[in-house]
Amino acid sequence: MSAGTRSAAPEMEPILEASAPSLPTHHFSNRSIRSFVLRQGRMSPAQRRYLDEMMPKIGIPYRNEVLDLSAAFGRAAPKILEIGFGMGETTAKIAAEHPENDYLGIEVHGPGVGALCKLIDTGGITNLRIIQHDAVEVLRDMIPDGALAGVHVFFPDPWRKARHYKRRLIQPDFVALVREKLSPRGYLHCATDWENYAEWMLEVLSASKLENTANGFAPRPAHRPPTKFENRGLRLGHGVWDIVFRRAT
Ligand SMILES: C[S@@+](CC[C@H](N)C(=O)[O-])C[C@H]1O[C@@H](n2cnc3c(N)ncnc32)[C@H](O)[C@@H]1O
Repeated sequence: MSAGTRSAAPEMEPILEASAPSLPTHHFSNRSIRSFVLRQGRMSPAQRRYLDEMMPKIGIPYRNEVLDLSAAFGRAAPKILEIGFGMGETTAKIAAEHPENDYLGIEVHGPGVGALCKLIDTGGITNLRIIQHDAVEVLRDMIPDGALAGVHVFFPDPWRKARHYKRRLIQPDFVALVREKLSPRGYLHCATDWENYAEWMLEVLSASKLENTANGFAPRPAHRPPTKFENRGLRLGHGVWDIVFRRAT
């Protein structure tokens, strides 16, 4: 997923991808309003091959059952969850640059999962696992309370039209759920290039029990590498907003 395509997909009504055998539709039956649209995007043969080869090794199937995170990564290390990793370039880069942490990437879009599987394999990345499922259900059902050192939500679908705002991932209930899953001092880091969503995020987070680490929007933290689309957008005068809140206790 690129900034260039970020604007294209979200305004469609949900379409379940008929050609996604790894994504059974019943997995999504519990929630009525979702933050994603399963696009008709085709998986390339390479993405399909990497997904088929790698997911049995580094994929964690969705289950309505609390996950033992240390067992899933084979070690005790800080655990950071990323929601909606798109094509996974940023995720792979962060994991490679921070071998001291473990990363759990969540995405519903099959081609993106295949793309990240390729980056994990070719980059020899060992501290990254993937769950291909609705992240809200993963958080709710699988993540132990107080277990996460951080949660990343980078460039979530902005859902630009007011009648679609209810689909935005960042909502009071979602933030309360994230807070439960964070450890004390754990952080929620959101980034967006859509100003209205940036203001929305700041408002929702400011009304939550999390505390702001900055005075309003935050400078881009060093752990989030800028994407090439972001650099191009910044050169064209477009904005990007980072928002970093922390659990106090
Ligand atoms: C606009 S893209 C951004 C991707 C990437 N973070 C980036 O910066 O390029 C948003 C992604 O979030 C995914 N997504 C949205 N809601 C989700 C959810 N509830 N669970 C898992 N993935 C979700 C979408 O499938 C999409 O790939």
